[in-house]
Amino acid sequence: MRPMREKFGSKLGAVLAAAGSAVGLGNIWRFPIETGRNGGAAFILIYIGCIFLIGLPVMLSEFVIGRSSQCNTAGAYRKLAPGTQWKWVGRLGVLTGFVIMSYYVVVAGWTIQYAWLALTNQFAGRTAEDFPVIFNNFATNPWQPIVCLVIFVWLTHYVIVKGVTRGIERWSKILMPLLFVLVFILVVASVCMPGAGEGLRFLLQPDFSKVNSVVALNAMGQAFYSLSLGMGALCTYASYFDKQISLSRAAMNICLIDTLIALMAGFIIFPAASAAGYRLQSGDIGASLLFITLPNVFQQAFAAVPLLSYVFSLLFYLLIILAALTSTISLHEVVTSYMTEEFGFKRSRAALIETVTCMLLGCLCSLSFGPLRGIKLAGLTIFDLFDWTSSNLLLPIGGMLISLFVGWYLKRELVRNELTNYGTLRLRGLRVLIFILRFVAPLAILGILLNQLHLF
Ligand code: PFF
Repeated sequence: MRPMREKFGSKLGAVLAAAGSAVGLGNIWRFPIETGRNGGAAFILIYIGCIFLIGLPVMLSEFVIGRSSQCNTAGAYRKLAPGTQWKWVGRLGVLTGFVIMSYYVVVAGWTIQYAWLALTNQFAGRTAEDFPVIFNNFATNPWQPIVCLVIFVWLTHYVIVKGVTRGIERWSKILMPLLFVLVFILVVASVCMPGAGEGLRFLLQPDFSKVNSVVALNAMGQAFYSLSLGMGALCTYASYFDKQISLSRAAMNICLIDTLIALMAGFIIFPAASAAGYRLQSGDIGASLLFITLPNVFQQAFAAVPLLSYVFSLLFYLLIILAALTSTISLHEVVTSYMTEEFGFKRSRAALIETVTCMLLGCLCSLSFGPLRGIKLAGLTIFDLFDWTSSNLLLPIGGMLISLFVGWYLKRELVRNELTNYGTLRLRGLRVLIFILRFVAPLAILGILLNQLHLF
């Protein structure tokens, strides 16, 4: 007989776990970069529109699939659409989980190194010229980044083997509030810096002349990535949701939390960057944001009070570690639950297989900054290839198929039952939701896909 499936023990735990999956490097790293590249406040407004117009309905779809099937993401489609090819959507999700996890832990590992550098006060007295050198020496080193990524993968493993309630839920309840507190402290400190005004204007005064279709599609792609949509992470978590949880309320809360943290990351980074003399309008905030620009920003912005530089840098890198960890936990769980339920492995063994595989693939990704930098496919290093294929290809394709599945294939009665908890909750707008899932979301996602393939 199959062992009983675990469940999240409380509504709060369920929402925090799913919000933890959503809040990650996407909020604190990718969002500010995209905001910087795409012109600031106007991009943010479009981004918020995408979160609620497209992201929320797709999230609800993942929730409906997960909770109604009570299965891992691959098993869910087999159960809800037996004998059809829809099972490939779930399997694609598992594959995507593998790929994202393998490169995500490389960057997550870097944050451990930077927290260490901050803790041991090694940024003190450095100038803008030093930071690119520090980063390049570290990232191209054959073993240092690997040690960091191994630590990160094992932290994730530790939480996963404890199980859904004692591992994922318990740690989400500890890490997420800590993350909120850190974000709050950092926002206040950043906004109060002399010279923060330009950063605030950049975030608050929209310049619509910068908006074009590519900016809008970038906003949508970012919304998707940030909400962890398209690969079954939220579907897997929803399979542990209790029948009492209101799916629409949970989805709304997760979208709000994710958006708030992304915005607050903006309010940490842009005011501090303008205080340190960076020119935001001319794209000073780029891909090197976290590891080259920001350590310098923290030094320059608090030049008069070195203790503040120290505390700010340390708290900031701790914050990213927490955010990344709650996301890798969800990525890991997609694969672990798949292996336990589909192949009958014990949880600890399934987790170990995923952990070791990710470590090996992660090492390849990490080495592609150093000794393996010459190995390229279509001009991309191994790391870039993993990043590019998962974010630009696999997630949007997964998201499109998920919305088509719920919009066209699933019985409307099942969707209604899940969203109303079998008639105990009121539901408005089911028709609108189905319309979005049938037409709006798939077309919009197709747009993201074509944009990312540079076919626009
Ligand atoms: N949403 C995460 C972030 O913003 O960093 C990234 C992510 C996690 C994407 C889990 C997909 C996923 F399943």
